[in-house]
Amino acid sequence: MALLSIRDLSVTYHSGTRHVKALNSLNLDINEGESLGIVGESGSGKTTLIMAILRLLPKGSVEISGEAFLNGKELISLKQEELLKMRWEEMALVFQKSMNALSPVHKIGVLMSDIYRIHKPEVSKRDARRRIEELLELVNLPSRVYDLYPHELSGGMMQRVSIALSLMFNPKLLILDEATTALDVVTQTQILEEIVALEKKLGITRMMITHDMSVVASTCKNVAVLYAGCLLETGLTQDVLVEPLHPYTQGLIKSFPVFDNDTHQPLQSIGGSLPDLSSPPPGCIFEPRCIKACDMCRESMPRLKEYGQGRFAACHLAGGEINV
Ligand SMILES: Nc1ncnc2c1ncn2[C@@H]1O[C@H](COP(=O)(O)OP(=O)(O)OP(=O)(O)O)[C@@H](O)[C@H]1O
Ligand SMILES: [Mg+2]
Repeated sequence: MALLSIRDLSVTYHSGTRHVKALNSLNLDINEGESLGIVGESGSGKTTLIMAILRLLPKGSVEISGEAFLNGKELISLKQEELLKMRWEEMALVFQKSMNALSPVHKIGVLMSDIYRIHKPEVSKRDARRRIEELLELVNLPSRVYDLYPHELSGGMMQRVSIALSLMFNPKLLILDEATTALDVVTQTQILEEIVALEKKLGITRMMITHDMSVVASTCKNVAVLYAGCLLETGLTQDVLVEPLHPYTQGLIKSFPVFDNDTHQPLQSIGGSLPDLSSPPPGCIFEPRCIKACDMCRESMPRLKEYGQGRFAACHLAGGEINV
């Protein structure tokens, strides 16, 4: 069953006479207990998508349409007070610099306990401390971290604290936006392994935004490929990576190194850059950069079509010429 269902979600940023369509009629589901990696180059709308779901986009200058159901509750139209509760208890976010949002002059334990007791004022200081120590242990941090200041932690420890914070109220949906990108590969791998183990233990559903295909390959059951605000392909990670249907996904995969003794393929980049989202091309959004584009691609944006169980692509040529 889908824990999160996104339906026709569009987001437009307005600034003066410029109107940037950062998300364009997105449809996406994440099943309970599963993990979804969202990939796409910089500016493709990944952060906009999660900010829209969490309702953290600036008011006034942003237009949002469509729906996002979390456990049956529609988030885009939800009242503010209900939303505040849901943000910690139903869904939690960890981003690259989560820790920077915390006060540098308070110890980790105090910071975490304060947050805990704002949400649960009935809890005593002693019980709050016990819960925080339990959370620190959960993310493999020593209990002495409770008495340290943020500047005394390494980057990896800081991200572990951010993850501990996000798990404070046992959220059903954990959203990570480039949460481990700034870490060295060893620490990143350790933290990702811990997250995967924790989500099994706690029954968490994960949505993970990353630039790194290898991270998706090793930690996500499903993948969604976003480009210029449009969903171009989605499906089981192993299917999409082994036999990508969309030329953009094919290009993304070729631009990542394969560490295999038998494979010596040079890296290939995708020519060109994202279109100006305030005046997108008239046909397929990827057409100006697509090496396989034909007349049809210059005329209309293809709809997302199903190609087998849970496998979707938005390409006029998918399932046909492009795969030969
Ligand atoms: N507050 C804003 N006002 C105007 N345009 C914005 C705003 N925030 C984002 N955008 C635009 O929306 C588009 C999507 O941006 P977004 O930050 O969602 O991309 P992203 O996929 O998260 O990129 P990155 O990988 O670099 O984090 C970009 O064209 C960006 O310039
Ligand atoms: Mg982003």
